[in-house]
Amino acid sequence: MSLYALLAGNGPSGFGYGSTAEQVTEGLDLTGQHILITGCNSGLGLEAMRVLALRGATVIGAARTLDKASAACAGIDGATIPVACELGDPASVRACVQTVTELRVPLQAIIANAGIMALPKPQQLYGWERQLFVNHIGHFILVTGLMDSLAADGRVVMLSSAAHKGAPKVGIELDNLGGERGYTPWKSYGQSKIANLLFARELSRRFEGSDRVANAVHPGVIATNLGRHMNPVMVGAMSIAKPLALKTIPQGAATEVWAAVHPDAAKVSGEYLSHSNVAKSSPQGQDMSLAAKLWEVSEAKVASI
Ligand SMILES: NC(=O)c1ccc[n+]([C@@H]2O[C@H](COP(=O)([O-])OP(=O)(O)OC[C@H]3O[C@@H](n4cnc5c(N)ncnc54)[C@H](OP(=O)(O)O)[C@@H]3O)[C@@H](O)[C@H]2O)c1
Repeated sequence: MSLYALLAGNGPSGFGYGSTAEQVTEGLDLTGQHILITGCNSGLGLEAMRVLALRGATVIGAARTLDKASAACAGIDGATIPVACELGDPASVRACVQTVTELRVPLQAIIANAGIMALPKPQQLYGWERQLFVNHIGHFILVTGLMDSLAADGRVVMLSSAAHKGAPKVGIELDNLGGERGYTPWKSYGQSKIANLLFARELSRRFEGSDRVANAVHPGVIATNLGRHMNPVMVGAMSIAKPLALKTIPQGAATEVWAAVHPDAAKVSGEYLSHSNVAKSSPQGQDMSLAAKLWEVSEAKVASI
């Protein structure tokens, strides 16, 4: 356990910085539940899938290719169903929606976990900055496409990040969605993560009057493959800091799993969660008019591709 985990206490949920995904699900029987998770083949997604299956859920594990999803699922003890979902390819995401819909099972939770971070050079997909497209638009197509499959009390969990605080001053640069103006890797990653947060808040607003909930999660800072585009100096600094400050992967997977299945999170909605508790986001991350505008432009984009 890291020094930080030892010093940090637990929050009102009874869990905190040091809690692991196994601990936040201890005693839960998820038999009969179907849960979809993206990015199931690596880091937090793989650990979340392992623990959800351990508790009896059938996990629909999505990865960029069926081979990757199948390999990840094959390593799990419990019930899993591998599916392909390349978030940068709308046809692949739509095919995933169809495959999951055809399973004809109610989804108790959708965990939008996959993501890319801090691409060194500006890149675009379908005219949008690549991180914004993969992290936000790919999941927008997936989650909105699966609304008919989401259980009446189903939960949507969006992986955001504390890095959303590094988004542009306006939150989302609606006049620079291609990212051509003033690209920096962290600002664009931050923008994609504030998009995940605003999507969760707007979805939660749309769920009002139902038993469905939607939340966004900061999992902590964890050394995973996410850092593949980081410069070696930063990676070196992180590996030195690891035993002191960083969360382990089992700790990092805790908040998304808590949000997806813990009974205490069943009525929590429209929140930004950290260390398995409600936390405070940036002011821009609370801007519901920006959330509505982002939904509108995303919907228009998705209709055009
Ligand atoms: N680790 C942290 O410190 C941290 C902090 C804050 C937030 N987060 C968030 O936590 C989530 C999980 O990250 P992680 O740390 O577990 O990273 P990771 O180990 O790199 O896992 C990311 C997953 O996303 C998948 N992915 C990437 N691009 C994709 C695409 N175009 N289509 C479909 N899947 C794609 C990856 O697949 P491949 O393996 O095939 O590339 C991988 O399975 C991310 O959303 C990240 O932003 C992480």
